[in-house]
Amino acid sequence: MARPGRILISEPELKARIGELGADLARDYGRGPSSPIVVGVLQGAFLFMADLVRATQIDLTTDFIGVVSYAGAQSSGHVRIVSDLSMSIEGRDVLVVEDIVDTGLTLTYLKRTLEARHPRSLRVCVLVDKVERRKVDVGLDYVGFTIPNVFVVGYGFDYEGLYRNLPYVAALEGE
Ligand code: PRP
Repeated sequence: MARPGRILISEPELKARIGELGADLARDYGRGPSSPIVVGVLQGAFLFMADLVRATQIDLTTDFIGVVSYAGAQSSGHVRIVSDLSMSIEGRDVLVVEDIVDTGLTLTYLKRTLEARHPRSLRVCVLVDKVERRKVDVGLDYVGFTIPNVFVVGYGFDYEGLYRNLPYVAALEGE
């Protein structure tokens, strides 16, 4: 039975790094002409998003977008929106918040889709970058942590729907 094992990113490490990201956002968006729309990508980003927006002292709006990959285990880049944004992003500053970038295919699709809606700016903030697994080059504006190619659970990351609620990121063991 696969279970969460070794902790890769502890609660204090998450808190400290997200605090830094929050300060980066305040620096980059704080003096803008309008407040940004922070878009969380469901499901995995919900915990990171909640902590990130509380770590930045700027006016902002939140929204969510749900995507699934057609791919099954192997990411193919065929991505589908299952739950769309609730508002227009035309002319707005948009910050996409993702939990992980692996092959980069999901984010590439998402960026292309959102760019077509003509935001004023579009940036990406990702908690975890599994850079070894990248198949397509995708621009990341804010990165929390770079990790090796291990299956992670906790803090939004699941294994068969479980363990998203752990307050830290751990390696899955015993699979
Ligand atoms: C994860 C993650 C990204 C995608 C990244 O989602 O949230 O959306 O995979 O992989 P890629 O770079 O190879 O495209 P997942 O399918 O695990 O769904 P979830 O967020 O609902 O857990």
